[in-house]
Amino acid sequence: MVAAVRVHKVGGPEVLTYEQIEVPAPGPGQIRVRQHAIGVNFIDVYFRIGLYPAPGGLPFVAGAEAAGEVADVGPGVSDFKRGDRVAYVSGPGCYTEERLVPADRAVKLPASISYEQAAAMMLKGMTVEYLVRRTFKVEKGMNVLMHAAAGGVGLILCQWANHLGATVIGTVGSKAKAELARAHGCRHTILYRDEDFVARVKEITGGKLCDVVYDGIGKATFPASLDCIRPLGMFVSFGSASGPIEAFNMNLLQFKGSLFATRPTLNTYTAKRDDLLAIASELFAVVGSGAVKIEISHKYPLRDAAQAHRDLESRASTGSLILVP
Ligand SMILES: NC(=O)c1ccc[n+]([C@@H]2O[C@H](COP(=O)([O-])OP(=O)(O)OC[C@H]3O[C@@H](n4cnc5c(N)ncnc54)[C@H](OP(=O)(O)O)[C@@H]3O)[C@@H](O)[C@H]2O)c1
Repeated sequence: MVAAVRVHKVGGPEVLTYEQIEVPAPGPGQIRVRQHAIGVNFIDVYFRIGLYPAPGGLPFVAGAEAAGEVADVGPGVSDFKRGDRVAYVSGPGCYTEERLVPADRAVKLPASISYEQAAAMMLKGMTVEYLVRRTFKVEKGMNVLMHAAAGGVGLILCQWANHLGATVIGTVGSKAKAELARAHGCRHTILYRDEDFVARVKEITGGKLCDVVYDGIGKATFPASLDCIRPLGMFVSFGSASGPIEAFNMNLLQFKGSLFATRPTLNTYTAKRDDLLAIASELFAVVGSGAVKIEISHKYPLRDAAQAHRDLESRASTGSLILVP
């Protein structure tokens, strides 16, 4: 038996239940991982509240990213052996001391990346890789607007886009968050709880607006985000921290300047193993070079997962949060 945090009924953070579960021997194509660190992500909240239904139904073990060592391998697995250091995004199922993982979802960790760093960055950092290199190619001289710039995805994206030569403008919920975002590559910050962020983007860019807006907030920043984008620019809606964007008229994109809009997810970009390996390797390179630093703002014991969710949802957190079994 191993300790795990499960959801038996969807609801608030209190439904995260710390208990003992059985982990069977790995089946064909699976590895058993002894976990050293587990990432906390907003997607864990979406599953917990039932916005995303858990594929296997209730109860389910929460969590979507983790890192650890291979404890056992199932039949047909040739890429991994016992003792290998691995990390992966595969969820729900990660808030546990040990678990089975499909081997084709795991990647080997370079010696330079610690388990805690990996758990803090695999989901968020691979997301940033596809956002700035694949969904929209950020280039030198571009203006980029990142909402929630001091968050987990936010701090990584600000650094990466800055590294690519873009001017990053970030919205943040407090002065302390503004300072943190600026220390991580965000050139201009906007306190979007007090200021009109559209007016500020116009002012900062001298009316040129942004080539791309990365919006993980959803309901609260739509459709205003569209007014921050230059003609033929790109609106990337990649999350719903304030709730999902409601149905809207496609013609809006015409009136706002023939905009492009997409609603991407990491699962699609890493569906093929070759793409997963390429994206992970780009992430390891940019972190290994020091261009992107992974900010772990808080470590919680696994049994305190509910507190980690409270902190994330109350907008109190910055950077990445991890659970330690
Ligand atoms: N599509 C994908 O592939 C993908 C992958 C990973 C993450 N995501 C999305 O990326 C976004 C960020 O994820 P994260 O895990 O790094 O979280 P996070 O940014 O660390 O936390 C969310 C932040 O959103 C802001 N926020 C604004 N309105 C909010 C509200 N009503 N409730 C809660 N927070 C609110 C807060 O920052 P301020 O105080 O600064 O406003 C808060 O700190 C989420 O939407 C997530 O779903 C998408």
